[in-house]
Amino acid sequence: MKKITMGAVLFSMMFVGVNAQSLKSPDGKFEMDFQLKQGVPYYNLKYNGKTIVEDSKLGLRLFKDTSIKFASEIAKPEDVKFDLNNGFTKVDEKHDAKNETWQPVLGEKKNYINNYNELAVTLHQDATDRNIIVKFRLFNDGLGFRYEFPQQKNLNYFVIREEDSEIDFPTDMKAWWIVADYDSQEYQYQETKLSEIPARWPKAADANASQTLIKNAVQSPVMLKQEGKQPLYINVAEAAVLDYPASHLEVDAVNFKFKTHLTADRQGAKGYIQTPSVTPWRTIIVAPKAEEVMDSKMLFNLNEPTKYTDTSYIHPTKYMGVWWEMIIGKSQWAYGQPESNVRIGVTDFSKLTPNGKHAANNTKVKEYIDFAAENGFQGLLIEGWNVGWEDWFGHSKEFVFDFITPYPDFDIKMLNEYAHSKGIKLIMHHETSGSATNYERWADKAYQLMNKYGYDAVKTGYVGDMIPRGEHHYSQWTINHFYRIAEKANEYKIMVNSHESVRPTGESRTYPNYISAEAARGTEYEAFGGNNPDHQTILPFTRWMGGSMDYTPGIFQTKLDYYFPGDKRFVKTTLVKQLALYVVMYMPLQMAADLPENYRKHMDAFQFIKDVAADWDDTKILSAEPGDYIITARKAKGTENWFVGGITDENKRDYTVDFSFLDKGKKYEATIYEDGKDADYIDNPQSYHIYKKKITSKSKINLKMARSGGFAISVKPVK
Ligand code: NOJ
Ligand code: CA
Repeated sequence: MKKITMGAVLFSMMFVGVNAQSLKSPDGKFEMDFQLKQGVPYYNLKYNGKTIVEDSKLGLRLFKDTSIKFASEIAKPEDVKFDLNNGFTKVDEKHDAKNETWQPVLGEKKNYINNYNELAVTLHQDATDRNIIVKFRLFNDGLGFRYEFPQQKNLNYFVIREEDSEIDFPTDMKAWWIVADYDSQEYQYQETKLSEIPARWPKAADANASQTLIKNAVQSPVMLKQEGKQPLYINVAEAAVLDYPASHLEVDAVNFKFKTHLTADRQGAKGYIQTPSVTPWRTIIVAPKAEEVMDSKMLFNLNEPTKYTDTSYIHPTKYMGVWWEMIIGKSQWAYGQPESNVRIGVTDFSKLTPNGKHAANNTKVKEYIDFAAENGFQGLLIEGWNVGWEDWFGHSKEFVFDFITPYPDFDIKMLNEYAHSKGIKLIMHHETSGSATNYERWADKAYQLMNKYGYDAVKTGYVGDMIPRGEHHYSQWTINHFYRIAEKANEYKIMVNSHESVRPTGESRTYPNYISAEAARGTEYEAFGGNNPDHQTILPFTRWMGGSMDYTPGIFQTKLDYYFPGDKRFVKTTLVKQLALYVVMYMPLQMAADLPENYRKHMDAFQFIKDVAADWDDTKILSAEPGDYIITARKAKGTENWFVGGITDENKRDYTVDFSFLDKGKKYEATIYEDGKDADYIDNPQSYHIYKKKITSKSKINLKMARSGGFAISVKPVK
């Protein structure tokens, strides 16, 4: 417990009740109070009468001027007169409530429930004659709040210096976190106490192609646990980050407190606002069970319904890719010699000396198409199809790709026709190398080319430092870029899957064609330093809270010395855990990332990847503990088929699946994919056994998971 002085208690008691506005969740379990203490806004949060968040300050600091010469403006001392965090009186209070059910275009369940009570407090700053609104929504799974800026005489344009929203917890807690960074989210998770974050922080980051670390701060979503006899799980995140920078959380390890830290732009400013305007929502999800936190749809509920008039082109897609072989270094994206100086529109790429390892060539792509088609996939991603990869990275080169010119050995017309004749759509790849300005210039032409050849999905990428130079991956400009691209793609009826973009915070409700993103440390890192065995047991509590991730699972050949004798790199899971990821991880765009030759050796296990669905009518998190294990059951869209996946961290575990979620009285056949008795992610990752069993809703099956192993079950009704 923190030390609080008696004086502080008395002081705060004087104000609660006198000047506080209260709000309860629809089920009455949550309660929050808003109050002004000497003109400064505060809120708190209780769950079942227990304080979750102590009185915590709200407010923003602004720059004095909007026509800013930034270097000099930032150097000037702050003038509190311009800040929106003091001198307020309450002038209005409005209550509202909602209980609606809506259907995501693609989702984990058929229906998402959006049920909350709302309090909107209008505050007047006498000294500047400005009004702001603080809006709170209290759901049955926690709190969301944001600032709203109505248009008014004295508040039309302003520039944010910092948002200072605080979340002050009463006690120390366990935390699962990654270091804060304006440019990368591709870090290993840390499991420490809140109070231990500063000590661990310097050891928690590894190198990245673009990196601007924020000392002693963590990224959101961050997962927390109040341990004890009646534990509570808490998730802190944000929602609807639009036309605003993504935020990080500065950690006060002594007072167990977070404070918002917005991503700066290249001038050091943190958001250019024209009123009327609203900020993203700050969210605090709380539940006695970890499973309930993972199941929360609060971030989606806090986003606006889509305005798209046609979403019929948006569909779940299972895909393979000419991809993993480049990631591991077996082949290359470039056609010519890497690091040769090339110019788009000038260099004759057909005259380059081929490096002999270019993967996106007609022969190889046809082989992948054949395999994907034979096995029921809908898509095939091809990377390295377009000119420019010879010097694509690390030169701050703006015109790095045109996204329309194929390499000489990639016949775009022939390959698309060949793919379509076999029921496969090629998936476009647009690596921008962080040059977002260049991508915006070419987007229309690139999407016209896609329409011409019948591509309906694009994977974008933002490796390296951003252009505009000095801009960050999560600043306001770049976030606007990501959604401009989603809207532009919608004009052409194209689905977007973005890598190295900002973590989603529920925006797929508004932009349903933005169907997936990487925006975290994905499978590729198994080839660049590895993911810890507990990595996949944490991501669904953090990165996944706001939208699906393109994790690119399905690696059967986990040891890379198979390709390169002596190579020590390996994917730190068993083969069966790779199968389980297709259920545990929600991915409407679902990749089978390994090479056909590796699947051919294990067609019995590959059957699970062929069968598993990518869009769902229902999801049940059967059991979960962040950092340890997750067991999830999902019902495939429009069918009576269920899939169950279980994963564990570096510890072996047993789990008994209770099938009581199945329809009573119906008979089913389960196909069970289990780690072999001798399976182990280091010593024997490819040991598995597969068996079938007749089951009903009364059945229970005990399963054994190896170290970093798992299980996968497909369940189909039988007569
Ligand atoms: C990084 C992406 O995450 C990966 O999927 C892609 O293959 C490379 N960049 C090249 O674009
Ligand atoms: Ca663990």
